[in-house]
Amino acid sequence: MDRPALYITRLLPQPVLEAIPRQYRLLPLPSDAPPTATELREGFAEADAVICSLTDRIDASLLSCSTRLKIIANYAVGYNNIDVAAAAQRGIVVSNTPDVLTDATADLTWALLLAVSRRIVEGDAWVRTGTWPGWKPTQMLGSEVSGKTLGIIGMGRIGQAVAQRAAGFRMPVMYAGRQSVSPPPGMVWIRRSLPDLLAESDFLSLHVPLTEATHHLIGARELAAMKPSSFLINTSRGPVIDEAALLSALKTGAIAGAGLDVYEQEPTVSAGLVTLPNVVLLPHLGSATVETRVRMGLVCLNNIAAVLEGRAAPNRVI
Ligand code: DGY
Repeated sequence: MDRPALYITRLLPQPVLEAIPRQYRLLPLPSDAPPTATELREGFAEADAVICSLTDRIDASLLSCSTRLKIIANYAVGYNNIDVAAAAQRGIVVSNTPDVLTDATADLTWALLLAVSRRIVEGDAWVRTGTWPGWKPTQMLGSEVSGKTLGIIGMGRIGQAVAQRAAGFRMPVMYAGRQSVSPPPGMVWIRRSLPDLLAESDFLSLHVPLTEATHHLIGARELAAMKPSSFLINTSRGPVIDEAALLSALKTGAIAGAGLDVYEQEPTVSAGLVTLPNVVLLPHLGSATVETRVRMGLVCLNNIAAVLEGRAAPNRVI
């Protein structure tokens, strides 16, 4: 039998490349740049297994090029980049990388929350100009975090990890989600309707997958329902927020600020956002730690091995 062909669309951390079983035939060594449409089609045509990134659009037309493809291992937990129904129709398994990136993404959510409320990025930029005149009682006052109410939309793994971290800040936690969840012993998490959550949260953090139902979940109406002193944090997917409505809310003071790791049209960021002082903008760093990105790759390889050996993929999404 032929050695199974593995197509990796983007360069992965070295320990992941080193863990690729020798019996696989690695199709041209991946590069750090996004693959061209032709490269993607060629890779899909030849591969038994693919590891793709959230930036690769895997649609029905691309899937129609595949001749022997058995599994697409998405190097992400969110898989809105893949037409899973079209993959299912062709009998191609799709897997993702849950659990291993929960802590990294929850940590980054807190980094954004603290950065925007305590004006960390503005402060750092000021010190670097060499013009900081020294401490003053009224200088660069931000918003207190400890004791404020944290609202979470989407109480899955990452939402719950964000909620657990709130205990260290003595913050009441409320959430809106499809199901009730039980907090760990000693913690209280209160389930609310979305309108109540919007009205009561001092910090609102989004942790839903991108689906038709969550597209523009936060738009002009929802932003208007938030407190003018509140902050919105998004480490999920950009299109969950109507970015034009958010820009307007930040400019008019409908909310106090936002911390964003994801954007509606990545890598493009709405022009107006980059000039605002009350927003912290990160380049989709949620899972970007050495440890997590290695673990994500190993999860992809584990799912591929399972499918190629005729076993069920542990992280199959369809
Ligand atoms: C994911 O896995 O969905 C994250 O957005 C990657 O950083």
